[in-house]
Amino acid sequence: TDAFALDIGEWRAGVPMVFADFAVGNELAATPGATVRLRVDATLTLGTNDNVIAESRFGDPRNVVMVGAHLDSVPAGPGINDNGSGSASILEVAEEMALYPVKNKVRFAFWAAEEIGLLGSDQYVESLSEAQRDRIRVYLNFDMVASPNFAYKLYDGDDSDGVGSPAGPPGSAQIEQQLARFYGTRSLPTVGTDFDGRSDYGPFIAVGIPAGGIFTGAEGIKTPEEAALFGGTAGVAYDICYHQACDTIANINATALDVDADAIADSTARFAFNLRSIPP
Ligand code: PHE
Ligand code: ZN
Ligand code: ZN
Ligand code: ZN
Repeated sequence: TDAFALDIGEWRAGVPMVFADFAVGNELAATPGATVRLRVDATLTLGTNDNVIAESRFGDPRNVVMVGAHLDSVPAGPGINDNGSGSASILEVAEEMALYPVKNKVRFAFWAAEEIGLLGSDQYVESLSEAQRDRIRVYLNFDMVASPNFAYKLYDGDDSDGVGSPAGPPGSAQIEQQLARFYGTRSLPTVGTDFDGRSDYGPFIAVGIPAGGIFTGAEGIKTPEEAALFGGTAGVAYDICYHQACDTIANINATALDVDADAIADSTARFAFNLRSIPP
């Protein structure tokens, strides 16, 4: 907002300038020689904000299964559905898997600064060498998995759901299908959702790493078809407290959290032992 506009100085076109990685909406465009004033509109306080990365003791480091959720919230509220739901779920899976002799290395990421432009995940992917990227065989993302008026949405990595986003890197379709099979075993339906980079999987698919994940909906409105499939209320947002002060523990649907945490555990454990469906 304007109240927090921060003036970060002047830049002359053609002069290289390194500045903090404010990822969205601040691309520079200017004619050579022009002077541009840079302004970043965000509630930023000076300080550092780190990703937390934890990896299994066991497992082949040449085949990494990566699982991530963002730990930050917007300043307006505590962010319990967005994204306490995803980070608590992957923490539980990490704790339960910690002593298991998995075949592939499992690496959990609790991302910083997702809400101000995927900064933590972007910086992480940027920091990897080509060889390190190649070793990450799948990336699973969990951002908002317990919305009060939920639908079980899977990122449409196979481009089969008509949601309009392009197919993901090869392997993304298999991730979506493996997640869908879990819901199938519980006789639960799923629908596709945009695979457009609006969460921390974006930097991964941008460099060709197959990805997938679960989402139970944010500010979008539940359709009558979805209400027939999942229950809840058509014509109302999936999360009426999205990015608001009321995103508290009361804003969690316990059924969705229970089912989705199990789906996260199931998909993580399957890929931890078997990556044969994913192209090398
Ligand atoms: N990344 C969005 C947020 O944190 C939520 C979101 C997740 C939107 C997944 C679409 C898909 O606010
Ligand atoms: Zn958010
Ligand atoms: Zn989020
Ligand atoms: Zn799909």
